[in-house]
Amino acid sequence: MKKILAMLLAMVMCMACLTACGDTAADTDAKDVLIVGTNAEFPPFEYLGDDGNPDGFDIALIKAVGEKLGMEVKIENMEFNSLVAAIGTKIDASIAGMTITEERLQSVDFSDPYYDAYQYVIVPVDSTIASFDDLTGKKIGCQLGTTGFFIADEDIEGAEAVGYNKGVDAVNDLINGRVELVIIDKNPAMVFGEKFSDKVKVVDGAQFGFEVEQYAIALPKGSELVQKVNGALKELKADGTFDALVAEYIGGDK
Ligand code: ARG
Repeated sequence: MKKILAMLLAMVMCMACLTACGDTAADTDAKDVLIVGTNAEFPPFEYLGDDGNPDGFDIALIKAVGEKLGMEVKIENMEFNSLVAAIGTKIDASIAGMTITEERLQSVDFSDPYYDAYQYVIVPVDSTIASFDDLTGKKIGCQLGTTGFFIADEDIEGAEAVGYNKGVDAVNDLINGRVELVIIDKNPAMVFGEKFSDKVKVVDGAQFGFEVEQYAIALPKGSELVQKVNGALKELKADGTFDALVAEYIGGDK
């Protein structure tokens, strides 16, 4: 009888231990959270939806990535200019139509590229600006911290780069005549061009010789997430999800 009691007691203790251990396991089972910074001022990649929350191609893409990784994605909307510095501290990653650049590679790692982009030019409807030389000495509106800003600031002779927190504010100042053109990525340029089509027109960046850029997801340097995110991106391309998102949010010829 004593033996049976002792055995029972041992079993109860063992089970208690298992449950306790199970508890910790359950904790790690709870979905890991991935805090992803964006700048929801860049349609169709990211913008504020009708409900006030960030929406767009990038947001849908990173949520699909999170699903593949079994992680819950939380979007943090912030200024574009502060995204890179926040990676690894305030945020775990950034998706923001962000171009892979040498300079950014000094402080972050990028996933495989997921989209090709070009800088485009927005000018008043009656403008004759059509070639790189036409940009010389111009006052150029751009979103701060973007590749468009760096082109205006560094590559165009005598030009004055005027930085805005939001691309749309640069377009508004173009309409007001405070800047003479805006340099911004193709897809947002098309969206803004359409929105203000009575006042502005969009010129293909190829006419100015701007180089192709590649968007990728930015991650902390050396993060093991890079491989995981790349794996998820590959799966999303293979299973058709990626193309479906392109069709839904970007459409047309990409
Ligand atoms: N592709 C450009 C860059 O990386 C502009 C990106 C702006 N993105 C945004 N969400 N506002 O600099």
